[in-house]
Amino acid sequence: MKAEPCTYVIFGATGNLSRIKLMPALYHLDAANRLPEGTRIMAVGRRPWDQQKWLAEAREMIQHKAKNDFDEIIFQRFSERLYYHQGDIEQAACYTALTETLNQSEFPKNIAFYLSISPSDFGTVMEFLSNNHLFDEEYGWRRVIIEKPFGYDLDSAQALQKRINNYLTEDQIYRIDHYLGKGMVQNVLVFRFANVMLEPLWNRNYIDHIQITHSEEIGIDSRGDYYNSAGAMRDMLQSHLLQLLTLVAMEPPVSMEAEALRDEKVKVLKSIRPIPKEAVHGHSFRAQYAKGTINGEKVNGYLQEANIPANSTTETYAALKLYIDNWRWRGIPFYLRTGKRMAKAQSTISICFRHPPLQFFRGTKVQCMSPNWVLLGIQPEEFIRIEMTVKEPGLEMSTRVSSLDASFRNQDEKAIDAYEDLLLDVLKGDRSLFLRFDEVEYAWRVVDPILQTWAIERDYIASYAAGSWGPQDSRRLFDKESQSWRSSLMPECN
Ligand code: BG6
Repeated sequence: MKAEPCTYVIFGATGNLSRIKLMPALYHLDAANRLPEGTRIMAVGRRPWDQQKWLAEAREMIQHKAKNDFDEIIFQRFSERLYYHQGDIEQAACYTALTETLNQSEFPKNIAFYLSISPSDFGTVMEFLSNNHLFDEEYGWRRVIIEKPFGYDLDSAQALQKRINNYLTEDQIYRIDHYLGKGMVQNVLVFRFANVMLEPLWNRNYIDHIQITHSEEIGIDSRGDYYNSAGAMRDMLQSHLLQLLTLVAMEPPVSMEAEALRDEKVKVLKSIRPIPKEAVHGHSFRAQYAKGTINGEKVNGYLQEANIPANSTTETYAALKLYIDNWRWRGIPFYLRTGKRMAKAQSTISICFRHPPLQFFRGTKVQCMSPNWVLLGIQPEEFIRIEMTVKEPGLEMSTRVSSLDASFRNQDEKAIDAYEDLLLDVLKGDRSLFLRFDEVEYAWRVVDPILQTWAIERDYIASYAAGSWGPQDSRRLFDKESQSWRSSLMPECN
């Protein structure tokens, strides 16, 4: 698929996401000569800025992120693509003026609208855009990129979808989950389906359990209002972690074409065993960070953060046990966890294989009998590691764990930010790394019973010290004594 010139219209262009992700990603695409000739970027914001002020802001956003990679000449070229449209997105006048501007000949008639705004504004903005015929595809394609969260729960997601259906067809909608743009996440599929060695073992006969962890050192920064109404389950688990789970667990798709891939992911989500209300505590755990120390610095607890009510029971840590009731995975637990202000920032998929039968070592001094693990490091380190038991050199029959490393990136190869990949896919019309509505819907079905129970039980929430690996009590999710959270990336001896 070929990227076509377009006008990128970014709603919420002065906000956090645009600052840290979108503008730097577009700049990097331009630097790599991947933005088609003639591409324009129109920032829509409420602030009373003129073109000069916007360029100064954009420069600051990019310099901050690109650091030593910032190149004055490339920025000059990039800045010729940039425009600022000042307006209030709740007012019709904003859209009539925008339509007039976009009708001018310098703007390509293919238009991608990026909604980097509060989900509660999605419907309103789309209605205005539609009323101004900005979704009509007579002279070029019109695509809309929607940031998560898509809805607040199943009902609201369905209501939002119903509203969107009034204005857009499904193939105009790009629901973004930026995890799917991460290089290593895409590599999960390559690792599984382009190598024949592991796939025969990738099932309930050989795997004991699977863990997916996303931990962060950062807290909630200035996102208190949003975060307190979302919590870790909505913010990370319902979206990014369940997406990772689908890639680890899915069957090989018939092709890498968008619908084939999404069909397989949906099958996984549909096969997740529903969690009845009475089983919520056996399957989930939530907690909130208390004050503690991160990298030697004292940090506040969640309740002391800006814009957080003193009695908030919003979770900053969520863990979940799921079963996928299909032929491949029946009976195998998938443990998912995520948390803010944890010991280390790290995203990893850890696959623990069953213990081999021990007879071979009977009567020897085998010290360390670990199961095999396959570790897929998503970030910050990207790696594929297979841990094997080997004999220690020497006269004794002792073993240790050694790992086979199939690391993904050489030292001189730069990581590409997920948003670069995804913003380019929009220009190509490739929706394989974007979510179809039924994926979103089934993901909400998985977590809804838990969210409903947590919403009622607002008297108490467990806590963990900032800088720790989360609450000890989350261990109760494990099915067996031998299972525990795998936090270390170094070989462990069980
Ligand atoms: C976002 C969440 O979707 O993902 C944030 O809203 C979270 O709370 C972020 O910090 C994590 O993304 P990444 O790419 O930094 O791992």
